[in-house]
Amino acid sequence: MPEIKVNGRQFEPYLTVSQIDEQIKRLGKEINKEYNGKRPLFVAILNGSFMFASDLFKELTIEAEICFIKLASYKGTKSTGNVVTSIGLDESLKDRHVIIVEDIVDTGKTLSEFLPQLKDQQPASLKIAALLHKPDALKYDLHIDYLGFSVPNKFLLGFGLDYDGLGRNLKEIYKLVGEE
Ligand code: IMP
Ligand code: MG
Repeated sequence: MPEIKVNGRQFEPYLTVSQIDEQIKRLGKEINKEYNGKRPLFVAILNGSFMFASDLFKELTIEAEICFIKLASYKGTKSTGNVVTSIGLDESLKDRHVIIVEDIVDTGKTLSEFLPQLKDQQPASLKIAALLHKPDALKYDLHIDYLGFSVPNKFLLGFGLDYDGLGRNLKEIYKLVGEE
């Protein structure tokens, strides 16, 4: 795979289609085993997770549901700080086995601010599936239950991940060149 240029920045190949596929298949197998008979509800966070969610969902052989939400962050009052709300979560999570699907966990801020709202709905269980995670960037106490890859603290692109809106369509995952 050659280097590519997106929005004027140079990116080099980092994860191939078959590497990505292998990890997603592994996660699918684990979930099939652990959620058999539980009819889990996948809650995929747009935009970035759409490819991962789709590929992971196709690996399931058990009964399962999926819905897609968007997270919006706005400034709350002084005491509440930033508030993250979801758009499009119509399903009730009460007594459901919920698996959040994220493309990448960086600082962990987005998810750790959003999780309490999901827990308020009293799901039977709540787990996180993320394709990518940058452990060195993590600033919040967040456990990822189903993880594809631990990656270095570098900017990544492709397979749903964007740089200023571009690059989501790439089948492979690329890394920004010159960031060491
Ligand atoms: P967090 O709240 O810091 O964990 O940020 C997570 C979100 O930031 C992800 O859902 C992505 O949308 C975005 N993000 C973090 N790292 C990258 C990256 O390397 N490339 C593209 N988007 C990223
Ligand atoms: Mg995202």
